[in-house]
Amino acid sequence: MSAVDTERREALEAAGAGAGAGHGEAGEAGSRAADESSAVVKRRYVRRMFSEIAPTYDLLNRLLSFNIDGRWRRRAIDVLGWERHPRGMFLDACAGTLDMSVELSRRAGFAGTIVAADFAEAMLRAGRTKVRGGAVRPVVADALQLPLGDGSVDGAMVAFGVRNFADIDAGLRELARVLKPGARLVVLDCSSPPSRLVRGVYQVYFRQLLPLVGRVVSGHRTAYRYLPESVAHFPPAPALKARLERAGLARVTYDTLTLGVTAVHWGERPGVDGAAA
Ligand SMILES: C[S@@+](CC[C@H](N)C(=O)[O-])C[C@H]1O[C@@H](n2cnc3c(N)ncnc32)[C@H](O)[C@@H]1O
Repeated sequence: MSAVDTERREALEAAGAGAGAGHGEAGEAGSRAADESSAVVKRRYVRRMFSEIAPTYDLLNRLLSFNIDGRWRRRAIDVLGWERHPRGMFLDACAGTLDMSVELSRRAGFAGTIVAADFAEAMLRAGRTKVRGGAVRPVVADALQLPLGDGSVDGAMVAFGVRNFADIDAGLRELARVLKPGARLVVLDCSSPPSRLVRGVYQVYFRQLLPLVGRVVSGHRTAYRYLPESVAHFPPAPALKARLERAGLARVTYDTLTLGVTAVHWGERPGVDGAAA
């Protein structure tokens, strides 16, 4: 098998790993071991791939989303509920080139701090020129093992990151763990448009044009092939809502954006104002 084939296979394997809804009662040792090894493959692939595409990541984001990605991020910040704790501490998990952190830090009245965590240091470095002042604190860290105590943040957000987790449920539980009671988690990610017609047009763009443009601009052979595959394996919006509830969040709700190509979900850690504990 050629090096190109091996890389492509690795990207496709990575895209499918970590999305499963976990084992049922069976939980056989064999399938658990297989899950663990595909999780290792996915984590390694995702970290390396984002490190490699960091220099062109922002440009391709703007280009491939027709510059709509800023609007999606603003919508996600709108539902974070930071106004209840303007001096609080917030987590931007999978912070990448810091767009979410910078957007929050620039909101009028925000006087808190943002821990911007990502395991690909090159992504954080690529975004550092956008940061002004001391509100944003980049940290190289895995979202599945956050260097934060239980109940330590006033809100958490993750944009286009959950899809890349080696174990989605473990990642959601970890994010829920660090929230203070009543604090909100916001998840912004790609989704599958509910309309069959829109989905059809979108698939042509997403599976044919996007990988081509992505490859030419980034020079990366597999990253923009991994992207549509990872979305195909990601739970649709109602299923993601159920997964967030299973991770321990209450009052989970979501909005679909731009004909359903992305969705923003939010929910809160129970324990305040009668939310089920
Ligand atoms: C598609 S980018 C999104 C970046 C940024 N949030 C944005 O909105 O542009 C996904 C980021 O998640 C990071 N990532 C994926 N899995 C991670 C994990 N388990 N821990 C920390 N970072 C992770 C990648 O390194 C990458 O920077």
